[in-house]
Amino acid sequence: MIVWQPGAVVVLRSATVDDSAFLREMLAVAADWRPEAAARSGDEIVRDPAVAHYVVGWPRSGDFGVVAHDDDVPVGAAWCRFFDAGSHGYGFVSADVPELTIGVVAGRRGEGIGRVLLTGLIDEARQRGVASISLSVEADNPAVALYLDVGFVEVSRVADSPTMVLDCRTA
Ligand SMILES: CC(C)(COP(=O)(O)OP(=O)(O)OC[C@H]1O[C@@H](n2cnc3c(N)ncnc32)[C@H](O)[C@@H]1OP(=O)(O)O)[C@@H](O)C(=O)NCCC(=O)NCCS
Repeated sequence: MIVWQPGAVVVLRSATVDDSAFLREMLAVAADWRPEAAARSGDEIVRDPAVAHYVVGWPRSGDFGVVAHDDDVPVGAAWCRFFDAGSHGYGFVSADVPELTIGVVAGRRGEGIGRVLLTGLIDEARQRGVASISLSVEADNPAVALYLDVGFVEVSRVADSPTMVLDCRTA
């Protein structure tokens, strides 16, 4: 899928097993999102048990995601992973609702790439018959505005971080 952006052409494609290293990088970007925090490397992030479960073993059964490219260079990724009640991420609501992770490389944010990734991922979820997607976000992350804009609603809070859910059938 080719998406035109102001000043750039971004190509969106499904994430594959070959994207494992890039997804690790994007997980680090999402975990270390505060501008004053230097994002850890992909190798460092998979040693952090608090967040490693979002990418370890990619792709696991049920995983799906999208990667945005500018020419041959990946510039962002969004993906979903199912968890169960015994082992899950911060945004877990139930075993049939996968959790979202999203990141755009530093220097390419604010160009619309995140919105394109999210829209593409929601399309992919619909095609797979996934009814809902959840996420956890810190309350002061500007990404909250994007999530609200595409239709996510807050359903609870964990340590003051909203857990948000999107109904893919009506988004
Ligand atoms: C969050 C993120 C994926 C959004 O991607 P992006 O390409 O920067 O976002 P877009 O350009 O598509 O903007 C979409 C919307 O996001 C919101 N937004 C995202 N980042 C923002 C920021 N720093 N300041 C203000 N608004 C922001 C705005 O509502 C924007 O809507 P608008 O275009 O109508 O103004 C990206 O900024 C990022 O990787 N941030 C660091 C990692 C992170 O926080 N991940 C989410 C963890 S829950």
